[in-house]
Amino acid sequence: MKKHFIILSVAVALTFSSCGNNAGGDKSIAQKVDSLMSLMTLQEKIGQLNQRDFGWGAEDVPELIRQGGVGSLLNCAPERVNEVQRIAVEESRLGIPLLIARDVVHGYKTIFPIPLAQACSWDTSVVKAGAQVAAAEAAVSGIKYTFAPMIDVTHEPRWGRIAESLGEDALLTSRLGVAMVQGFQGDDMADADRVAACAKHFAAYGLVESGRDYNSVFVSEERLRDWVLPPFKAVADAGVATFMAGFNELNGVPVSGSKFLLRDVLRGEWNYPGMVISDYFSIDQLWVQGYSDSKAQAAADGINAGVDMDMMGGGYYAYLDSLVAAGEVSEAVIDEACRRVLTLKYQLRLFDNPYTDMSGRDTVLYNPAHLQMAREAAAKSVVLVKNVDKTLPIKPDVRKIAVIGPMADAAYDQMGTWCFDAEKEHSVTPLAALREEYGDKIIYAPGTKYSRDNSKEGFAKAVAAARQSDIVLLFLGEEAILSGEAKCRADISLPGAQTALLEAVEATGKPVVTIVMSGRPNTLPVELSKSDAMLIAMHGGTMAGPAIADILSARTVPQGKLPVTFPSMVGQVPIYYNDYRTGRPADYRPTMIDEIPLEAKQTSMGFCTYWLDAGISPLLPFGYGLSYATFEYSDPVLSSDTLTMDGQITVTCDIKNTGDYDGTEIVQLYTRDHFGSLVRPVKELKDFQLVDIKAGEDTTVTFTISPDMLEFCNADMRMVAEPGDFTVWVAPNSAVGAGKGFYLGE
Ligand code: NOJ
Repeated sequence: MKKHFIILSVAVALTFSSCGNNAGGDKSIAQKVDSLMSLMTLQEKIGQLNQRDFGWGAEDVPELIRQGGVGSLLNCAPERVNEVQRIAVEESRLGIPLLIARDVVHGYKTIFPIPLAQACSWDTSVVKAGAQVAAAEAAVSGIKYTFAPMIDVTHEPRWGRIAESLGEDALLTSRLGVAMVQGFQGDDMADADRVAACAKHFAAYGLVESGRDYNSVFVSEERLRDWVLPPFKAVADAGVATFMAGFNELNGVPVSGSKFLLRDVLRGEWNYPGMVISDYFSIDQLWVQGYSDSKAQAAADGINAGVDMDMMGGGYYAYLDSLVAAGEVSEAVIDEACRRVLTLKYQLRLFDNPYTDMSGRDTVLYNPAHLQMAREAAAKSVVLVKNVDKTLPIKPDVRKIAVIGPMADAAYDQMGTWCFDAEKEHSVTPLAALREEYGDKIIYAPGTKYSRDNSKEGFAKAVAAARQSDIVLLFLGEEAILSGEAKCRADISLPGAQTALLEAVEATGKPVVTIVMSGRPNTLPVELSKSDAMLIAMHGGTMAGPAIADILSARTVPQGKLPVTFPSMVGQVPIYYNDYRTGRPADYRPTMIDEIPLEAKQTSMGFCTYWLDAGISPLLPFGYGLSYATFEYSDPVLSSDTLTMDGQITVTCDIKNTGDYDGTEIVQLYTRDHFGSLVRPVKELKDFQLVDIKAGEDTTVTFTISPDMLEFCNADMRMVAEPGDFTVWVAPNSAVGAGKGFYLGE
C-alpha cells in the first residue's frame, strides 16, 4: 500500500497574530518602516544589523550608537539601559531606539526550573507562567528581547545544553515551545511586562555528534523534517518574533550560512516574516569553520543566506558596505534585513516608548506571586520514578529525618544554568524548607561538600545521621556549572563520591529517598536500585526547596513524566523512544555478558539488536513517571478500525485511580505506522492530556486521530500519510500499554 501516498499538507499562509506579534500584516508599520528607510544611508541600515555586547570590551559602544552603528545591545546593565537608549534616541542622526536583549531563559531574578525540568510537567500552563514571570521581571529591567525558547530536540544527555531543551520529542517540544512564546510575548509583546522571544537554534543543534558542543550534525533531510523542524514551524505559526541561527554545521553547511534552512525552508516554505539573528560570533565563525575564506566572505555568506542581525561578530558592520560596493551583496538584501529589524522595533513600540520606567522594579522582582508560581512549577516538574512499599510520602508520625547529600543546601546550584541575574540569597534550599516544616526532626549531614567532591571525610557523620533517623533524604546531582553551553560530559554518572555516599547510607538499612538535582539525565543504575524511592527533580530554581518539600509531604502529589530517555550506561547514547525499526528487534530476552558460557559458539546466542552489557532497554523510558495515586488503564477502544483520508476516528480509554490520593495523570497517545515508503519509528507520541482523577474514581479519556497526525517526510521531502496498518496505544509512558490496530485507507 505504500506506493499510493496522499499529500496532506502544503505550506500554509501564516496568520501572525497569536503570540503578541501583530505586525506581520500591519500596513501602518510597513509604511513607517518604508519612510524611515528612505531617510537612511547604507551605513545606517548596516548599523541596524549590528548587535553588540555591552557587557565587556564595549568602550566604543556609546560612540558607535551615536553614529547609528548599533541596532541592538545584549547584556546591558539595567542602570545603563536608559542612558544608552537616550544616546540612540537623542544623539544619533535618525534617533532609532535600541533593541535591548539578554538571555532570560528560565527566569530573570525569580528562577523557574530549568527548561528540561519544566518539560517534565508536560504542562503548557507551567511553561507559560514561567516565561510570563521571566518577561515581567526582565522587561522592568529594560530588556525587551530574550533569546528563548530553546527548542532543539535532542537525544544527547552528554550535551550540556540538554538542560535548556524541552527534551527528545518534537510534539512535546512544539507544544511547550509555543506556550513559552505565549508567556514571553503575551497578546502584545509591546506591553510593559512582555518581551520579544527567539526560537533557537535553527536548526539541528540538539543532534551534535557525540554530544560535544559546537560539533557537527549529520542527519538526513527526512529526519530533520520529522524530528527537528516541527517545533520551529509550530512557534513560527504561533508568531514568535525572531529566530536564531545556530553554531553547528548541518550536513556540511554551517547553519548560520544555510540558504536551505533560512531562505528555502524558513522564508520559502513557512513564509516566516520575523527577524533572524545569528548566534554569538556565528557569522565570523563561518570563516573559522573553513566555510568562508575570509571574515568579509563570512559576512557576505551570512547575510546572503538570510541572517538579518549579526550578534557580536562585527563582520556585518565592518564589511557589508564594501561588499555592496563590490557587488557581493545586493543593497536589496541589506534593505530586507534592515526592514525586519525596524519592523520588530515598531512592533515593540520602541519608537513611542524607548525608555523603561523602573520605578516599580523592586516590587516586581522576586514578587511573592512570582515565587509562588515558581514553587508550583517546580513541584509539577518533579518526577517520581521509584516508590517501593510507599516509602513516600513521609509519614506524619516520622520522628527523625536524615538530610544528606551535596545538593541539599546548594542555593546557587539549584538554580541551574543560564542564571546571570538571580542571587542565591533568594533561593530556598531543600534543607531550609525541610527545617521549616519538620524543625528539629531534621538531622543534617551533607556527606560531601559539593557534587564533584571526592572526599569521604563526611561519610561517617552522614551514616550516623542515617542510623538515628526513620528515613534518609539524599540530595544528589550536579552543580549548575556542569550543564549548559559548553558544559558537556562524556561520563554522565553522578560526579564525585556521591554514589559511594549512597552506598554507605543504604548499608544502614534505613529507607533511602534519593532526590536527583541535575542539569541532564544521569546514568543512575546503582542509585535507582539502591534507593527505596527516587525523585528526578533536576535544577528546580529559586523555590526548588519548598517544591520538593511539597512533594515529600504530599501537599503536592507528583505528576511529572520524563521528557527524555534516561540511559543506564552512557554507551547506550543516543537512545530515544522513537527510534527506527530494525530487522532484528530484541523481541526475546537476549543473553547478557555474564551469562555467556565459555567458548560459546558464534551462533549460539541469536542475533538481535542489543548490547551484551546493557541489554536493549534504557534505565527509564520517555514518558515515565509515578504518582502517589495509582492509575489503571483499560484497553483502548476505537470508534472504527478504519480511518479515511478525509475522516477521523476516536480512541477512548478508561482510567481508574486505584490509589488513596487524588492525582493528575499525563495520558499519552502513541502510534506505530507498520509499513512505510521509509522505515518508520517503533512508536511516536501523537497527543497527550493531563487528566485529574480523584482517588477511587475513573474517567474516560478520548483522543481524536486524524490523518494529518500520521504524516511523515517521505523521500521526496513531502509530508505524507501513507495508507496501511497502524497500531495505537493510550498509555502511561512510551514503554507499556495495550495496542489496538486500525487501517488508514484512501
Ligand atoms: C550563545 C548561545 O548559543 C545562545 O543560545 C545565546 O543566546 C547567545 N550565546 C547569547 O548569549
